[in-house]
Amino acid sequence: MGEPNDISYGRQWIDEDDIAAVCRTLRGAWLTQGPAVEEFEKALCGVAGARYAVAVANGTAALHLAAIALGVGPGDTGIAPAITFTASANCLAYCGAKMRFADVDESSALIDVAKLAKQVKSLAAAGKTPKVIVPVDMCGQPADLPEIRKIADSVGARVLCDSAHSLGASYEADGAKHPAGCCLHSDAAILSFHPVKHITTGEGGAVLTNAPAIYARLRELRTHGIHKDAARFERTGEGPWYYEQAELGYNYRITDIQCALGISQLKKLGAFVARRRQIAARYDQTLSVKLLAEKLTPLRQLPGRESSYHLYVVRVRAGKGEGLDKVAELRKGLYEFLRQRKIFTQVHYIPVNWQPYYRKNHGSNFDECPSANAYYASCLSLPMYPAMTDDDQQRVIDSLTEWSRSR
Ligand SMILES: Cc1ncc(COP(=O)(O)O)c(C=O)c1O
Repeated sequence: MGEPNDISYGRQWIDEDDIAAVCRTLRGAWLTQGPAVEEFEKALCGVAGARYAVAVANGTAALHLAAIALGVGPGDTGIAPAITFTASANCLAYCGAKMRFADVDESSALIDVAKLAKQVKSLAAAGKTPKVIVPVDMCGQPADLPEIRKIADSVGARVLCDSAHSLGASYEADGAKHPAGCCLHSDAAILSFHPVKHITTGEGGAVLTNAPAIYARLRELRTHGIHKDAARFERTGEGPWYYEQAELGYNYRITDIQCALGISQLKKLGAFVARRRQIAARYDQTLSVKLLAEKLTPLRQLPGRESSYHLYVVRVRAGKGEGLDKVAELRKGLYEFLRQRKIFTQVHYIPVNWQPYYRKNHGSNFDECPSANAYYASCLSLPMYPAMTDDDQQRVIDSLTEWSRSR
C-alpha cells in the first residue's frame, strides 16, 4: 500500500462542464461586465429566493457594499457574533462603526438571542443603539433570523445576514420553509464563492436583497459609485459618453469568466448539498457510538433548520473535573493526531473579539463572550466536501475512533 493521500477540511469540486463553460466565455466577446454576470445573479435569486442579487469580487466586498447601502457610517455601533470569520465584523469597521461582539450559544455556535436582546437593550439605553446587526449562518445552519429581526426592529436596527456558509440551507418561520439568503427577515444577505464554499467562482461573492433602493445603490457602489441615469445628472448637454459619480464607490466587479463558472456550479448545488448532508449523517452516526460520544460531540442542529453543512464541527468534551484549558489541550492533541495521519482539520473560529485590532481599536477583550470562548476551546472542523470519498471519510472515522480509545 502506498502513502495515504492528504485529506483537507474542505475543497472545491470542478468538473468538465465547469471547464467547458469557462472556456466558452474565454472564446467569446465578454471577459467582464457581460451577460454572464446578470445570468448568474438571476440564478442566485432562483436558489436563494431573494428578489435581487448583485454579484461582486468576493464575500468581503459583498459585506462592505451591503454595510454602506444599509447606511453604516462613522460613529455608528455595529454588532457581529464573536464566532465568525473576521470579515463579518470588518465590513462595519470599514465604514467607521465601533464594533460590539455578540456571544454565541456554545452548542450551536449561533448568536445567543437571549443575550443579544439584553445587549441591544443596554446599548440603546447608553445611547449606542446598533445601526446594523450581522447574524452569521455558522457552518451552514441558519441563525435565528425571525427572533433577531424582532430584536433589531425593537431599536430600529438593520439586519445584514452573513450567509457565506449557508447557500442551499433553509429555516422555518410562520409555518413555512424559507431558503437561506431569502432576506425575509433581513435587509440584505451575502454569499461567498471561495473554493471551500458550496459553489465556487475562484474568488466571488454576492449581496441579496428584496429592496429595490438597496439593489440600485449596490449596483452603483460596485463600480465606483458611477451611474448613467440622465434623470439624476447634475449637468446636462455633455453627450452620450457622459456619466456621473454621485458617491464614493469601488471596483468590486466580478468577471464574466468567474460568473460562467458560477452558473455551471450552481446547477450542481442540489447534488453538492445532498452529498454534504450524507457525509454529515455518517459523522453523526459515528459520533453516536458510546466510545466516541463520550469524547466528542457534534454541533447542535436546531429544530426547523436544515443545514447545508459548509463545515462539520465536532467539539471535544470535557472529562469529569476538566476545565477549558484541558479541553483546549485535548483539542490541540486531536488536531495533531489527525495531522500525523494526513487529515488536515481546521478551527472555525478564533473569537473575533480576541483579535488585537479589535482589542486596540474597538475596546473588546478576551472575556466578554464566555460561551464563545468555551466553543472555541473545543471546536474542530472535520473534513467536509462533496468530493470526499467514502474511503476517505472512513479514514477520518477510524482515526477519531483510535484517538477516542487512546484518550
Ligand atoms: C462567515 C464568512 N463571512 C465572510 C467571508 C468572506 O468571504 P470571502 O472570502 O469570499 O471574502 C467568509 C469567508 O471565508 C466567511 O466564512
